[in-house]
Amino acid sequence: MQFLRDRGYAHEIGSEVTPRDVYRSRRECLRRIAAATAGTALAACAARDALGQAARPGKLAALAAARSAVPGALTMERATAYTDVTTYNNFYEFGTDKSDPAQHAGSLKVRPWRVSVEGEVRRARTFDIEDLLKLAPMEERIYRMRCVEGWSMVIPWIGYSLSELIKRVEPTGNAKFVEFVTLADRTQMPGIRSSVLDWPYVEGLRLDEAMHPLTLLCMGLYGEVLPNQNGAPVRLVVPWKYGFKSGKSLVKIRLTETQPQTTWGKANSDEYGFYSNVNPQIDHPRWSQATERRIGEDGVFQKKRPTLLFNGYQTQVSQLYAGMDLRKFF
Ligand code: MTE
Repeated sequence: MQFLRDRGYAHEIGSEVTPRDVYRSRRECLRRIAAATAGTALAACAARDALGQAARPGKLAALAAARSAVPGALTMERATAYTDVTTYNNFYEFGTDKSDPAQHAGSLKVRPWRVSVEGEVRRARTFDIEDLLKLAPMEERIYRMRCVEGWSMVIPWIGYSLSELIKRVEPTGNAKFVEFVTLADRTQMPGIRSSVLDWPYVEGLRLDEAMHPLTLLCMGLYGEVLPNQNGAPVRLVVPWKYGFKSGKSLVKIRLTETQPQTTWGKANSDEYGFYSNVNPQIDHPRWSQATERRIGEDGVFQKKRPTLLFNGYQTQVSQLYAGMDLRKFF
C-alpha cells in the first residue's frame, strides 16, 4: 500500500482503503473550494485531487497557482509521485547519479538570487527572484516530461509563460534566439569539480519557441516552491523537447541574433541537437527513442509506453516547424 501511495496510485485503490492523509486532503480541498470566492491555489488543489494525488507534501513554502488555461497545459495523465519527482533527478552540478541532486543540492543558496535578461533587447534588466515571483500570475501546468535517456514523468509545475518575461524586456528586431545560462558555483555545487560537462550549463531556444505559451518559467511544483534538486529557485520547462533543454537554476537569459552554443551540443553535437524535439522516429545514435519508461510504473505496468511526436504536444507546437526537415534540424 505504501508503495502504491508513494507512486500516486491512491486514487485507484478504492475509497474504503483510501489512505487517511489522501482522504483528509480531499476533504480539505472540498472545504476550501466551498469556501472560495476566488480560486487560485484552490483550483490547483482540485486539479491535483482529480489526478488522485495526495496533499502537497508541505515541506517547502506553498506557492499559490491558478489552473492554467493555456491549451495543452493540463494533461489528465496521472502525475508522478512527489517522491519520484524529487529524488530521481538530473542536475549534473550536484553529481551524475539520479540520487545525487536530492542528496547534495541542500547546499544551494537560493536567496538572494538574480536573473539578468540581456542581449538583443531594448530594456535589459536584472530581476530579483522576488520580482520574478510577482511578475505574472502563477499557473499550474501538468506536463509530461520526456528525458532523452528514455524515461518520462508527469509533473504539476508552477510558473508562467516565459513570454511574460521576454515581452517586458522588449526584444529588438535582431533577436532570433534565446540563450539560458544556469548557475555554476563550485562552492555550492560539488559536481562542478568534475569535467563531465563544460560549465556553466547553457541551453538555447529559437525566439518563437521561447515565446510559445507552453514554454514555462517555472518556480514551483506540487503546490510548493521548487525543491533545490529540481532547479530552484527558477528554471525552464519546455514540454515538447527532451528534458535537457530545460535548464535549472537560471541566472542569465540572453537574446541573440545567432544560434547559441549549448553545453550538450558542445559535448556531442551528433547526439544532442539544438532542437531536440521529442521524436520517436529519430533515434539517439546509441538507443531507440520509440518508447519510454514512465517513472513509478516500473513493476506495475511493465510495458513501455510509446513515445509521442513532440511529446504529445503536436497540436500546439508543430506549426513552429512547418516546412522544416526534422531529421536535419534534430
Ligand atoms: N539543468 C542544469 N543546470 N543541469 C543539469 O544537469 N539536466 C537536464 C535538465 N536541466 C540539467 C538541467 C536534464 S538531462 C533533465 S532530464 C532535466 O533537467 C531533469 O529535470 P528534473 O530533475 O527536475 O526532473
